[in-house]
Amino acid sequence: MPLRSRKAPRDAVHHPLFARCYARVSVTAETRMGMGRVRERLLAGLSGRVIEIGAGNGLNFSHYPGTVAEVVAIEPERRLRQLAVEAALRADVPVDVAPGVAEALPVKSEGFDAAVVSLVLCSVRDVPRALGELRRVLRPGGELRFFEHGRGGGRAMAGAQHVLDRTVWPLVSGGCHVARDPVRALREAGFQLGPYRRLLMPQQGPVLPTSYCVLGTAWRPADDA
Ligand SMILES: C[S@@+](CC[C@H](N)C(=O)[O-])C[C@H]1O[C@@H](n2cnc3c(N)ncnc32)[C@H](O)[C@@H]1O
Repeated sequence: MPLRSRKAPRDAVHHPLFARCYARVSVTAETRMGMGRVRERLLAGLSGRVIEIGAGNGLNFSHYPGTVAEVVAIEPERRLRQLAVEAALRADVPVDVAPGVAEALPVKSEGFDAAVVSLVLCSVRDVPRALGELRRVLRPGGELRFFEHGRGGGRAMAGAQHVLDRTVWPLVSGGCHVARDPVRALREAGFQLGPYRRLLMPQQGPVLPTSYCVLGTAWRPADDA
């Protein structure tokens, strides 16, 4: 299916330094932090047409099961998108990489059986709008798989996360925030929460402000008009 002509600005997200760092660190994390296993769990059992938002350098692509007919992968950052295009060529399922932002997805409504976000809701500018767009492009009853980090820990950690979000962290990490609440945001956006589990990343070693992760499933309600 062709992408709609409604174009997002080419460089709506411009974080060249972050992109270079992420391209390296994320590959190391696949094995050292067990991210490869998390991606495997995130995508297991998916089928049909899938849209992935903020695909980064395309590290999810090799984990899509053969039951997936097609992946449309949206990535706004130029350098990461180029790496995603290269990763798409190596993937076992067809992956079409396109520019765009979560807040204005360049695809028609109700065209996808499933959607995927991993480590993206922390970075989008407008979470409710991004989730509204995800709900729009999923068919009623369609599934959203998510792996996100957010607020967690005790009072001291919550305080540290709050301060980081208002000072240096978004500046040095490509617009990332550490104190968001992805599960609550999904509920507020009208998704039905399915099973989800909390986990710390890295699973061993120091607990960082970015460690509080959640891996799960949500649905666009089947009777959603
Ligand atoms: C931490 S990286 C995660 C990349 C990838 N999803 C993964 O699991 O490795 C965050 C990604 O979100 C993208 N991003 C940032 N703002 C975005 C937006 N408004 N819409 C879509 N993607 C966005 C970034 O360009 C980057 O690729």
